[in-house]
Amino acid sequence: MQLHLSTWPEIEAYLAKSKAIIIPIGSTEQHGPTGLLGTDALCPEIISRRAGDEAGFLVGPTFNVGQAQHHMSFPGTITLKPSTMIAAMKDWTESLQRHGFERIYWLNGHGGNITTITAAFSEIYHAVTFAGPGNKPSLRCHLRNWWDLPGVMDQCRRLFPVGEGSHATPSEISVTWFGYPEIARPGGELSPKIAPTGPILDAEDYRRRFPDGRIGSDPSQASIEAGEKIVAMAVQGVIQEFRQFAAT
Ligand code: NI
Repeated sequence: MQLHLSTWPEIEAYLAKSKAIIIPIGSTEQHGPTGLLGTDALCPEIISRRAGDEAGFLVGPTFNVGQAQHHMSFPGTITLKPSTMIAAMKDWTESLQRHGFERIYWLNGHGGNITTITAAFSEIYHAVTFAGPGNKPSLRCHLRNWWDLPGVMDQCRRLFPVGEGSHATPSEISVTWFGYPEIARPGGELSPKIAPTGPILDAEDYRRRFPDGRIGSDPSQASIEAGEKIVAMAVQGVIQEFRQFAAT
């Protein structure tokens, strides 16, 4: 069940049985010469929607632009300042809270978002504490990176023992191809086969160090079949964890 494909009476009926919602959160940023700009938003979205369909959870709209300043030397990347992202996440949460949602499960697809999401949670809880007399402890936010779900990284390492890397990875690109097989672009060697690694600093430095955008990865190994295996593992993890979170 997806919020933006529902009517308000349907959301009102959902709230009568559950106060919990999943929000996929990611980034719009370059993912090497073969990966989609939306990869980091699409991965949590694909996993969340399947988990929602299978278990009857509500999935909100995808928060699809995040912390991507270091990718700004590549066309198409869009970024938010940390302060903007924190403010937007707070507004999304308070809107949901106003309707009665008390458990917001953010399924994240971008490592660069983690510190800002955590800061947003602090901002949200600060507002709860100072909203009026007494605590209102009912609101809970939860962050889970999709690759940290139980068994997922092990699955990725089994599928891609060499060249997984850390950006534009064969795993994440496989997930997007499984979600959108019509745009899959399998095959095609990249040069160098495995991209360099190094620190992430500003945008111009990034493009000098990582000329085609990849870090440590060989995404030419990506496949729809691998994506299916990774998504299946992640969906089971989300269902189990979201059920527990919703019940706390
Ligand atoms: Ni990514």
